Amino acid sequence: MIIERNGCFLLQTLHTSYLFNILRSGHPEHLHYGASVISETQYEEFLKASSFGDGSESEAASVCLNNICYSLSEKHPAAGGNMISYSDDFPGIALEDLPLEISSFGKGDIRDPFILVTHENGSKTSDFTFEKASITNDIQAPSSLPGSYDDSVKISVGSSEDYAQQLVVTYKDKEYGTCLEVIYSVYPECDVITRRAVIVSANEKIHIDRIMSNQIDFHENGLVFTSFHGRWADEMHRTDSVCDGGRCVSEEMAAGESGSRSNPFVMISRKDTTEDSGYCYGFNLIYSGNHYEALSSNGYDKSRFISGISPATFGWTLNKGERFETPESIMTFDMNGANGMSRHMHDFVRKHIVRGKWRDKNRPILINSWEASYFRFTESSLLKLAKEAAGLGIELFVMDDGWFGKRDDDKSSLGDWYENKDKLPGGISGLSKKINDLGLMFGIWVEPEMVNEDSDLYRAHPDWAVQVPGHAHSKGRNQMNLDLTRTDVQDYVIESMKKVFGSGDISYVKWDMNRIFSDCYSKELPADRQDEFMHRYYIGLYRIMKELTDSFPDILFEGCSAGGNRFDLGILCYFPQIWGSDDTDAICRADIQRGYSYGYPQSTVGAHVSATPNHQTLNTVPLETRFDVASFGCFGYELNLCDITSSDKKEIKDQIDFYKKYRHTLQFGHYYRLDDGRCITVSDDGKKAIAFMLQRESRPNRDVVTLRTCGLDDSKTYHITNRYVDIDLKTMGSLINMFTPIHIKQDGIIHNIANSVVKVQNEREDMTAPGALLNRVGVRLRPKFGSTGFDQDGDKTGILRTGDSRLYIIESV
Ligand code: GLA
Repeated sequence: MIIERNGCFLLQTLHTSYLFNILRSGHPEHLHYGASVISETQYEEFLKASSFGDGSESEAASVCLNNICYSLSEKHPAAGGNMISYSDDFPGIALEDLPLEISSFGKGDIRDPFILVTHENGSKTSDFTFEKASITNDIQAPSSLPGSYDDSVKISVGSSEDYAQQLVVTYKDKEYGTCLEVIYSVYPECDVITRRAVIVSANEKIHIDRIMSNQIDFHENGLVFTSFHGRWADEMHRTDSVCDGGRCVSEEMAAGESGSRSNPFVMISRKDTTEDSGYCYGFNLIYSGNHYEALSSNGYDKSRFISGISPATFGWTLNKGERFETPESIMTFDMNGANGMSRHMHDFVRKHIVRGKWRDKNRPILINSWEASYFRFTESSLLKLAKEAAGLGIELFVMDDGWFGKRDDDKSSLGDWYENKDKLPGGISGLSKKINDLGLMFGIWVEPEMVNEDSDLYRAHPDWAVQVPGHAHSKGRNQMNLDLTRTDVQDYVIESMKKVFGSGDISYVKWDMNRIFSDCYSKELPADRQDEFMHRYYIGLYRIMKELTDSFPDILFEGCSAGGNRFDLGILCYFPQIWGSDDTDAICRADIQRGYSYGYPQSTVGAHVSATPNHQTLNTVPLETRFDVASFGCFGYELNLCDITSSDKKEIKDQIDFYKKYRHTLQFGHYYRLDDGRCITVSDDGKKAIAFMLQRESRPNRDVVTLRTCGLDDSKTYHITNRYVDIDLKTMGSLINMFTPIHIKQDGIIHNIANSVVKVQNEREDMTAPGALLNRVGVRLRPKFGSTGFDQDGDKTGILRTGDSRLYIIESV
């Protein structure tokens, strides 16, 4: 709900309020964002006043809203100390010490600005004040960029209904005539508010030095800024910094992608916030390029968060009458810690970002050829792999890199999107038909934004590659970026991909992007507009993605950028899922996926079981752990199924049966992070849940393990069991001699024979407990093996070595 009375604005969601107030000077004072400041009865009263507007209700609402705003507004008698006093006409207005909705530069607010422009006269001073506001029931997305959308998810508030609405507030710089619109969308059911801005230059040519998407001024400092960082194959590590002065920044400044180095998702919380308690804000940006998120604080106990396109590598020239729009920023708040915040983010991403046929649909279990055979495959080797996969119950076969041009390694052929007939004599169409005949869907890998110098495309159009003419250029993975700021290059990508996607029965596309940017330059842009390059690239890319996803609505697209180098809401507006990381080591992946879980739901994260020793770390991780970790995402296998043992095949078949049974809960359930790296996903109706536990370090003589859950229905009773894991006899090593009448030499013939027929009994949990107990206290699991007290004849001791894991199945009785 959005309601305005006498210059006071309330943006209300189910559990949060956002308030601002237009001051006498015309500047918008930010009053509050966070916990709801009204009761449910008042919410309903406001709803009635805003929709029906009969005199009395409207009058009461006005008084109530004005009282709230007055209570929250700062009451400064004069500009303090050596602050700038904005104007003699408005004593008491010192912009440095006011929480603001938007902040411009040069009139006394010396903090990180929301907007910075250079006027024709060279001045950088701007002063935007309130002009007008309008409220609509339509959610308008940006015209050149992806945006959130509404499918009319209505909620009941008492006897009234609330639904998504949009507010446009227009500010004007009276000195120069420039207009700045701030556009808010309110999604009441998932407690999310979005913000973006549009600037229109009315009277002059200006240069935009920076324009942000969001600004929230907090009335406190000492807040904790949490951001997520990493590198290739090691994404999304959580970093907490307390902002007690100065500035904490999470920025992807020049990579040209939202980035594995710094994801655009960030959190702001208090020092005492935990996963389950305390104030927690979440912010993200619907954008895939360079971005900037910063929390700064000043000496007046105020903090400012701003986010948007990274100003370090951005600039834009606006001619008289032209407009520029920013990406949309999203925010949410919850009083119940990071888990509460994540729930809103997940709901929002699932309902208002991801779209199309696959939005709510279970994702198929896939086999991907990359780690199975890299570039070395033939049609017959692919078919062998597919046959094994089909036999195990896998549903989708994905042919990864290496099928086109002359691509036998990563040095050539990007750009030449026609089949390599030596590898695929029947082309995509022949192969996809044979794969379909095995009962599998067929999917394909592409990397359309790139070109190798060794390619027909580069030979024909060297100027289509990103480079500074006449100067040496650098490469990443032997390749160059295509200049997608150019319409002719965009058209080529669209046409060549349409040909590929239409050349067989293709159900899935993995869209890769394997290098970051260097030598940014477009031949088609004049010298004084080269600072527009990176943003124009994304406008071009989004045009391509829209055209292709609209043309192939049935295809399931998975984004990828050398793993999670472009994992963001811009991509998710077109592709429902993204490959999480090129690191498939399950132990590392558990951390990476936990990082994603703060801002992104499991249904958006691609996760696969790969070979052991792992190809990125050479670590050996049990097959069960590899499965348990990957099962909390869009699940698949990425290893050579033809080369594995029959016992591994049996285990994989069992994993697939299990995954199919619980797939919806694993992909779309309500996800919560638990202590010690554990997590749980709970079905919508609260009847089923799967919890995950990883034994990071096994130590002796510490056998008590408690499993405390989150998100179960307190009033339901649940049965708790675990996925049973067979253990090889050899796991016990020479300890076997403690239980045998004769001495057995470790790794000798008898040991090997016994190992092939005898399994060690592992634990089987079997408990029934109330949801309240599980959520608030936790159940004590079977003792963990800890040297003494092992029950060799039963199934009472859990063997959980370092790197072992468990899935617990919790079902209401
Ligand atoms: C990237 C991807 C991998 C794989 C290779 C193919 O690294 O992240 O999954 O597709 O490219 O070249």
